[in-house]
Amino acid sequence: MNEHTDITFTDPMAPEDILNWYMEMGVDECIADESTDRYAFSEAQMEKRKAAIANPPPASMSAPVISQKTAAPAPKVPATDEMVQDAVQRAQKSKTMDELEAAVSGFEGCVLKQTALNTVFCDGNPKAKVMILGDAPATAEDREGKPFAGLAGQLLDKMLFASGLSKEMGDRSDVFLSNILYWRPPGNRAPTPSEIALCLPFVERQIELVDPSMIILFGETAAKAILGRHESLSKLQGRWFEHSTPGLSHPVAATVVYHPDYLLKSPVQKRKAWRDLLAISERLKNL
Ligand code: URA
Repeated sequence: MNEHTDITFTDPMAPEDILNWYMEMGVDECIADESTDRYAFSEAQMEKRKAAIANPPPASMSAPVISQKTAAPAPKVPATDEMVQDAVQRAQKSKTMDELEAAVSGFEGCVLKQTALNTVFCDGNPKAKVMILGDAPATAEDREGKPFAGLAGQLLDKMLFASGLSKEMGDRSDVFLSNILYWRPPGNRAPTPSEIALCLPFVERQIELVDPSMIILFGETAAKAILGRHESLSKLQGRWFEHSTPGLSHPVAATVVYHPDYLLKSPVQKRKAWRDLLAISERLKNL
């Protein structure tokens, strides 16, 4: 008899039985406060489909569906000023990277921590000249507790090696890597502005402690959070900016590169990313 067969259901609808069954099946995380009635959803979808078949739109109006994120919607939880102030104080008190990591791990103000398996703080060399910031840990990073641990990380390692930013494939000792969020958003959904605001004081402090010569921002979310700019990614990518904070000894050159995750989905953009990496490695020679 296998170990799962001894669950006995006294009443198929008893809540404890359902919970026990979920736990046995490995469901150990809740990704939304309210449950979704998938049956109602599929019935509604069926009705919509039937209606669409009965009344097709004119050809000029029908557009292809490109992609749909199925992750649970982000909760509308605003970051209060006190919570952000708390994050600022904890960050400013941290005098070393270890202290900052402890401060981030102990910070309970960001709801993402409640559903994440791990705090994903950093990888690489905290004394590196080049600091890389992505947006948020995804599934592999959440599981391993390290940024860029999954497929996007493998592509990132290839990009670093090919452009001379690392000496060996997979060697991260010449860069410091982190994200602008320390916890995986449930279902890998996009982070909310509140979640970004609550992590930002720690990220700013992390930049100050590394004191890099250059920051590479991967993707639009990281670029907008750190540079405070509102242009689209295609307008930011490949340009150079200066990043300053009161705690930095000098303004740091910052540039925006297409995110490896995006390049996995749109390989045609690798050409632009490659150009940007060559410009970065050229500029590094003079730093
Ligand atoms: N995407 C990111 O932005 N960061 C990671 O760590 C992984 C995927």
